[in-house]
Amino acid sequence: MHRLDGKVALITGAGGGVGRAAALLFAQEGARIAMTDIAEDNLNETARQLEDVSSEVLSIMGDIVDTATIDRLASSAVERWGGIDVLANIAAIQIGASYDAYTKEDFDALMAVNCRAPFQAIQRVVPEMKRSGGGSIVNVSSIGALAGYAHGAAYCASKAALVGLTRSIAFDVAEDVRCNAICPGAIDTPMARQLLTSFPEEEREAAWATFTARQLMKRFASPSEIAAVIAFLGSDESSFMTGAIVPVEAGWTAW
Ligand SMILES: NC(=O)c1ccc[n+]([C@@H]2O[C@H](COP(=O)([O-])OP(=O)(O)OC[C@H]3O[C@@H](n4cnc5c(N)ncnc54)[C@H](O)[C@@H]3O)[C@@H](O)[C@H]2O)c1
Repeated sequence: MHRLDGKVALITGAGGGVGRAAALLFAQEGARIAMTDIAEDNLNETARQLEDVSSEVLSIMGDIVDTATIDRLASSAVERWGGIDVLANIAAIQIGASYDAYTKEDFDALMAVNCRAPFQAIQRVVPEMKRSGGGSIVNVSSIGALAGYAHGAAYCASKAALVGLTRSIAFDVAEDVRCNAICPGAIDTPMARQLLTSFPEEEREAAWATFTARQLMKRFASPSEIAAVIAFLGSDESSFMTGAIVPVEAGWTAW
């Protein structure tokens, strides 16, 4: 008996650090996995790692900004398993820049991937969840929605928008579907390292140290520590939680 036995979970960003950890944990907990990512090789690697855990896996490469990607994923999952129970909106991009170096294109891309695409996925998936008796949406936001940091203006704005989206969606779907968000602190994945490259080389060590110091354990999270909270919110263990914004940031906001 596992926490997610028989549940059908749509996972975006499954080729990335947190998305892969979530796909593996969800599968270990008994879920059927429908996953997507724009990075084909990384998505295939996740599929390969899942082979040892489950045969109930669907994998579709695509850009989540294009509604056709989630549509294909959702339709395939419903066709194969009859419904959808969990949507984990994990895919995102990070573009780090000083406020005066961000371009309009950067800003629009961040909003499109980090906020509009999760919104579009929710619009597509909620009717399926209602048909199968309910469900749970987990949006992965960021500490950047709760606290600012250098070179994060547009990224943090997109993640704060996702928090606003989460709270309001929770109202609209409350009878059947729960909708929560998590706000992770710094996680040891390619995304965190990418942010550092926006700083001049001589400032990178200090920037890394600043992020580390904000977290009371004085270390970055592992992807599996974040996946554990996504699985909790996706499962019935969190059945009285909706509209919640859950910090998973080792005390970053306790200062
Ligand atoms: N790494 C951190 O320090 C950190 C901190 C707070 C929040 N987060 C959030 O955690 C989540 C997971 O990030 P991660 O650290 O695993 O990063 P990651 O870069 O390892 O993973 C993100 C994944 O999303 C995919 N992706 C990007 N754009 C896409 C698109 N248009 N269509 C489909 N897939 C797309 C990427 O290919 C990648 O596999 C993200 O929502 C991120 O914003 C990360």
